[in-house]
Amino acid sequence: MQGCAPLKKIHDVFALLYGFFRFLQEQYVRETPRCPTGAAWLLAALACALACALAGCGDDAAPVQRVAGGDPARGKALLMQFQCGACHSIPGVEAARSTAGPPLDTFGRQSYVAGRLPNYPEPLVRWIVDPPGVKPGTLMPNLGVSPEDARHMAAYLYTLR
Ligand code: HEC
Repeated sequence: MQGCAPLKKIHDVFALLYGFFRFLQEQYVRETPRCPTGAAWLLAALACALACALAGCGDDAAPVQRVAGGDPARGKALLMQFQCGACHSIPGVEAARSTAGPPLDTFGRQSYVAGRLPNYPEPLVRWIVDPPGVKPGTLMPNLGVSPEDARHMAAYLYTLR
């Protein structure tokens, strides 16, 4: 349920606030039934928590990018088959620990591909299929990956966060 991450966060925050409210009630309200200061604090805390929850919907809460027609499990196998690990470190892919190319450990959170393309599925697939065609002079060679296989690879790479 990746898409519900922000909602879950808001739910958690409200659950926390409820506990806080009960605590306040027990501590103060019994002794001073009308407690405007407590209420003001509570409102301030509520507003702050909501703002934090909404601000928290950034990078980490963002859902994994979906690649149409891409299967992460097949992608993982293909990354091994094409030996992308000869140049990259790729978590979950056996023997992929080289440092010749940039590490792909948190690729799903990156903003750019090769510092050149916005990191979305279509540009990423284009990159994997033909790096020099996208960025002349790059050290990553054209490895003859088909667009279909590149989609599977992209799907796996986006799970790395
Ligand atoms: C011969 C070494 C080599 C091989 C093999 C290789 N790459 Fe690369 N790769 C590189 C280099 C070098 C870069 C950096 C290119 C640049 O920025 O110009 C790169 C960049 C990338 C990037 C962008 C990384 C970033 O931080 O922006 C991705 C994604 C990528 N490679 C995926 C793959 C995949 C998938 C394979 C296997 C099909 C593969 N690479 C095989 C050398 C390689």
